[in-house]
Amino acid sequence: MYKIAVVPGDGIGQEVIAEGVKVLNALEETADVSFSLDYLDIGSERYLRTGELLTENDIDDLRKHDAIYFGAIGDPRVAPGILEKGILISMRTTFDQYVNTRPSKAWHPYTPLKEEKDFDIIFLRENTEDFYMGAGSRFSNGKGVSLDLKRKLYDAKITVSMEANTDDEFAFEIGMMSRKGIERFADYCFKTAKDLGKDKVTAVDKANVCTSLYGMWREIFKQKSQEYGIALEHMYVDAMAMALVRAPERFGVVACPNMFGDILTDIGAEIMGGLGVAASGNISPSGVSMFEPVHGSAPDIAGQGKANPIAAILAAKLMIDNLGRRDLGILIEKAVRKAMDNKDLTADMGGHLSTKQTGDAIAKYISIVE
Ligand code: NAI
Ligand code: MG
Repeated sequence: MYKIAVVPGDGIGQEVIAEGVKVLNALEETADVSFSLDYLDIGSERYLRTGELLTENDIDDLRKHDAIYFGAIGDPRVAPGILEKGILISMRTTFDQYVNTRPSKAWHPYTPLKEEKDFDIIFLRENTEDFYMGAGSRFSNGKGVSLDLKRKLYDAKITVSMEANTDDEFAFEIGMMSRKGIERFADYCFKTAKDLGKDKVTAVDKANVCTSLYGMWREIFKQKSQEYGIALEHMYVDAMAMALVRAPERFGVVACPNMFGDILTDIGAEIMGGLGVAASGNISPSGVSMFEPVHGSAPDIAGQGKANPIAAILAAKLMIDNLGRRDLGILIEKAVRKAMDNKDLTADMGGHLSTKQTGDAIAKYISIVE
């Protein structure tokens, strides 16, 4: 019995998660597995009602589960950043979800690549450090280094001495990674390659320009490659962007620092078939992980039954894979493939079905695929 916390969230999050749950129920009927689902009311509605984002109670509740199945958050009535910081980022740091995983496999004929190449890439992105750790500042009018930045630099044991200049304003953002942070992430990358039977890890960086940061990154990846006995290939991020479009079949496990991973995973989403099929996991290898479609709450189509549920269904697949039941993940993938072959799809993929009808079709196929 897997205990799943279900957070449908806002907009089409509600609609697509309902279809993912349908597929989980279909799995229970077909296979030897059961899920206990607890719904949590987290998102914009509650925030507008009570001002609460992610409360201590929510965190205690979520902690009792094997995984979190998440829809989307985002509401035009709430200023950008509030829900993202208060819910998504907060969940990520609370549960130390330090790996973001984004599979990218070719879903023919929905990939925009001209040639029908078969690829099956797992992007792994370090999710807590690098240029996104929020260590930046603007210098203007004698304000100098902000207190917040001083604290961050102090915590990271970094000493800076800079005079604030009244006229020549400038700003900076620091990319920092710790040995511990890279080591635990690299461990996860090589373990994943081993589990999936991939013969190499491709580690992305820009070590020719950011020599300190990515010099350490390379060193640690090299050590881990030897430790695990799995080959390592280094790629510069710019060359990687080109290679992903020209020859994605060359890659298996792709390990990225936070910022480059943000960008490359979106190339990965697009070459596989776009937002309608892109799923993501925020992984805490020894804690509670969260699985979600990559798309947002899509207020432009919310409540109209137009949302494509496949990304959310593939997020459920990713969750089940990560719970250790790859045998069931394969069933979901085959059911989705069958829906595509039969054109049981929503309009964004050229079909004529509603969100619910598409979910019904995929749930039905769960029992007949093998
Ligand atoms: P979005 O992903 O919600 O929508 C972008 C475009 O793609 C829209 O035209 C939408 O109709 C379409 N689309 C998205 N998912 C679809 C689906 N399943 N089926 C068919 N069409 C789909 O991104 P947008 O519009 O930039 O953001 C809307 C809200 O969602 C914002 O508040 C944003 O902050 C939030 N957001 C939340 C995310 C999360 O919860 N992880 C991720 C991305 C955005
Ligand atoms: Mg992104």
